[in-house]
Amino acid sequence: PRLQAIDPSQLSISKTTTPKDLVPNEELVFGRTFTDHMLSLEWTASEGWLAPRITPYQNLSLDPATCVFHYAFEAFEGMKAYKDKSGNVRLFRPDRNMARLNKSVARIALPTFDGKALTELISKFTTLEERFIPSHLSARGYSLYLRPTMIGTQRTLGVGPPGSALLYVIASPVGPYYPTGFKAISLEATNYAVRAWPGGVGDKKLGANYAPCIVPQMQAAKRGFHQNLWLFEGPNGEEYVTEVGTMNLFAAIVNKEGKNELLTAPLDGTILEGVTRDSILALARERLQPEGWVVSEKKFTMQDLADAADEGRMLEVFGAGTAAVVSPIRNISWRNRLVECGLEQGEECGPITQRMKNWIEGIQYGEEAHPWSVKL
Ligand code: COI
Repeated sequence: PRLQAIDPSQLSISKTTTPKDLVPNEELVFGRTFTDHMLSLEWTASEGWLAPRITPYQNLSLDPATCVFHYAFEAFEGMKAYKDKSGNVRLFRPDRNMARLNKSVARIALPTFDGKALTELISKFTTLEERFIPSHLSARGYSLYLRPTMIGTQRTLGVGPPGSALLYVIASPVGPYYPTGFKAISLEATNYAVRAWPGGVGDKKLGANYAPCIVPQMQAAKRGFHQNLWLFEGPNGEEYVTEVGTMNLFAAIVNKEGKNELLTAPLDGTILEGVTRDSILALARERLQPEGWVVSEKKFTMQDLADAADEGRMLEVFGAGTAAVVSPIRNISWRNRLVECGLEQGEECGPITQRMKNWIEGIQYGEEAHPWSVKL
């Protein structure tokens, strides 16, 4: 029998009878409070996607033997909805999140889906939750963080493809990611653990990639650093720079030929295919290249960064992700030294990082008309 595809026209909506109070902007903590409702879609191997439902936000009830709890059948996305000056709600590049979630779930034997249909449902859900999208009129950085999640729900300890799945979307009003504000962070290069490896799943947004990141982050924090930097050791001991915490990493240096160069690691299977990463590369090619910048997706090492710092060629380093957009980096602790990343004392953000942030947020908030910003 033909399996049913996601059908947005079958959406049923059951509204809460106990609407929540809004949390004031300045009290928002990332991912702590959620909206009134959730969007859910069940899938079974025999029927395909069942009718989508919007219901009051509620607990899930799952048997303790459900496969997600044992073998980590879970993939997720992070995307944001913004309110523009005229009060329109906008999503940022939702097609990218749909494509990535499909790649992630396919890798762990969960069902793929029609990304356009899910985007349509997410749009309806987001519109219903509109009152939770913080106004950014006082300060940028406020939005509604959307968390599409898929889990395997078959009740079995047998190791095999889940016969049923649940795709759900919850939403959390958020402010700037770092509670300390937009400040440069210090990193500790992790030398005793790797995040991802060739042929692994580091390029997929699986929950199982995130839990093992917490101990290295705690270790870094214990020694006074905000985040850890993930390295990958090459065959000759070279230490490639990969990601920072849960973000992609960019470095702006003057290269050995004397040209300004913006660098990030290539998508070789060990790097998460960040939507913000992709957006920064596209904007850099469009807007920095004409100013003489070289824009590179290529492997580079901690030694390359240390040399740039030692030779006065280091300009700036920043992390990039949906949650924080960009996150300026002050220095990196590596092999008993501190590699300074181009910021003066008291300076929190370099000019390239700041321009990227302004360009991306300008598009996200609809201040610059751009095809990446999808008006609902
Ligand atoms: C991001 O958006 O940068 C992330 O990956 C963080 C998220 C897992 C909270």
